[in-house]
Amino acid sequence: MISFPNKLYLAQTPTPLQPLDRLSDAIGGPRIWVKRDDLTGCAISGNKVRKLEFVLAQAIENGADTIITCGGVQSNHCRATAILGAQLGLKVHLILRGEEPEEKSSGNLFLDQLAGATISHYPVSEYQTLPKLFQQWEQHYRALGNTPFPIPTGASNGTGAWGYVACAKELASDFQEHQISPSLIACATGSGGTQAGLTLGAELFNLAAPVLGIAVCDDAAYFQNKVREDMKAWKTEYQQSLDIEQLAIHVNAEHIGPGYAKAPPEIFDTIKYLAKTEGLILDPVYSGKAFHGLLQEIKVGHYNNAKDIVFIHTGGLFGLFAQRDQL
Ligand SMILES: Cc1ncc(COP(=O)(O)O)c(C=O)c1O
Repeated sequence: MISFPNKLYLAQTPTPLQPLDRLSDAIGGPRIWVKRDDLTGCAISGNKVRKLEFVLAQAIENGADTIITCGGVQSNHCRATAILGAQLGLKVHLILRGEEPEEKSSGNLFLDQLAGATISHYPVSEYQTLPKLFQQWEQHYRALGNTPFPIPTGASNGTGAWGYVACAKELASDFQEHQISPSLIACATGSGGTQAGLTLGAELFNLAAPVLGIAVCDDAAYFQNKVREDMKAWKTEYQQSLDIEQLAIHVNAEHIGPGYAKAPPEIFDTIKYLAKTEGLILDPVYSGKAFHGLLQEIKVGHYNNAKDIVFIHTGGLFGLFAQRDQL
């Protein structure tokens, strides 16, 4: 029996597992299922809220009144944290990579502002000194008499990993309900925590399917290491007996394209196709890029022997609005 640490109940879970029959018929090959983590909430939708259920519980247990976190200008994690902070009565300070846009803010940044987060924008060169920026802001809030709590990029750490251990538990009952035994569980990997949690959870709940992270930035070696680090932190901080060294970490970094948050036209084509064929909305930075990558892998025959494949839809809807001129 797995004993989960305390969490806040913030996400709308369990999320549905749905087959994409029209798409699967059109491309041939395995039936593609989608775990609808884009439905974990409205403004807080996506994968981050699952991690934040555990991380924000820890923050509150530590007496925090101020959350400091970081990400790109269109970070889904920052948006979810800003909104959840408002929901919980916590101050939120966001350290964002990239200048404040000259035109009106849109997508996630617009929601960050609407939720009243304090936002500091840093040019990419200065953002590279991230640990120092965290330190400075933590000191700043302590000097004001506040109790700050830092959350790393994407809430990807030993505590955040529990969010996707919990999702794996849901998947075990989804698979039972639909009487399927998928050959693969794929997700977008951006900071590694979703993949770390799923990899742990797949083992703990006997999902009998490899977890594949489709990288949206960085290279495979980077994520091999990052996912391993998050799993190690989870094991040590929560005294888990699972032998994590024997768990394989599968990363595909072949579909990043021009770089983080940069998508070539074919990804927008996939986004349009999925929207029209299945009513499923993907985003160009994470879910669309990863899903497009998965479709390429299926089309070249890598999963010819698979009957069912699961894609975790990690959300990202608001990021689409920030790139709507590409559609
Ligand atoms: C919509 C979306 N999908 C996937 C990811 C990747 O998840 P992780 O950061 O846990 O690797 C992120 C964040 O990085 C995200 O915002």
